[in-house]
Amino acid sequence: MTNEDLATLDGVGPAMTSKLRSAGLTTVEAIAVTPPREIAKKTGIGFNTVLNIVAAARKSACVDFITAEELWKKRQNMLKCSMGSKNLDELLGGGIETQAMTEFIGEYGVGKTQICLMLCVMAQLPLEKGGLNGNVVYIDTEGTFMPERIFEIANALGVDPHKTLENIFLARAYNSSHQCLLTDHLFKFCPENDIKLVIVDSMIGHFRGEYIGRENLSERQQTLNSQLHKLLRLTEAFNLPVIVTNQVLANPAQFFGDPNKPAGGHVMAHACTHRVYLRRGRKGTRLAKVIDSPYLPENSTRFKITEKGIEDVQE
Ligand code: GTP
Ligand code: MG
Repeated sequence: MTNEDLATLDGVGPAMTSKLRSAGLTTVEAIAVTPPREIAKKTGIGFNTVLNIVAAARKSACVDFITAEELWKKRQNMLKCSMGSKNLDELLGGGIETQAMTEFIGEYGVGKTQICLMLCVMAQLPLEKGGLNGNVVYIDTEGTFMPERIFEIANALGVDPHKTLENIFLARAYNSSHQCLLTDHLFKFCPENDIKLVIVDSMIGHFRGEYIGRENLSERQQTLNSQLHKLLRLTEAFNLPVIVTNQVLANPAQFFGDPNKPAGGHVMAHACTHRVYLRRGRKGTRLAKVIDSPYLPENSTRFKITEKGIEDVQE
């Protein structure tokens, strides 16, 4: 991915550039993939001008038609971040992918946040050690981010815990509209701070808490959908993985098998590239199962949560 200067776009002068930048549209790619109506609203630039800018950006970033060969090349830039467990990495085809959104689903206490905390440390490792060699953004909607836990995991991995903490940028989202604001800000924040991993824990908590009742469901789903699509665009624009966590709902109509299903309905299901369902297993272990992915098989594996973070279960 190139980070071409906005000023190279036809018809975009310094004033326009600064409007785009302050709206978080800092790269040609970001402009090319953001809906024009949204750009106009955020920047105050007239809609017709925005259409021209977007057209120029699309031309420059080659986002209209590309050949499958070009897509193949783009996907060669894809990186994978280890989760510290070989089995979990294998389940996900070698680790958490960039240019994709991975969702961890499960009931309270199953280990969603623990996986996120582990990834905060792993992502900072150099590529040859399974990391992404960059910094991390953590959008915490539940106030469960624990620096002590990062300290512990970093120590166990033999990396400097204070440096590790320095490289994690935390934002506590207090409600769904604050969460939306933070997501918007990421398009500016990520390239400026060498962010290589974005975590939203939990994606859905505020939405479920605020939009109560059937009459508010469609508005909730629309807002959630637009947020998820922004996060997806972020993965492509900056070649990074986005991790979201999701809760489960009890499904009273279910007679056999697991009575829980992921929250967020079809919107969540369609937006996330890979969905991983977590459950409690024998002897305190955890089961992870891929339930939806464009190319990963629906396998499952076990892992455990220890003071070192996430580890393989010795069979
Ligand atoms: P919610 O956010 O409530 O939906 O749950 P979650 O899925 O995020 O759960 P979380 O990741 O917070 O997992 C909490 C569980 O991790 C605890 O119940 C412990 O079993 C386990 N855990 C956390 N820290 C440690 C640790 O240092 N050692 C061990 N062995 N287990 C730990
Ligand atoms: Mg949690």
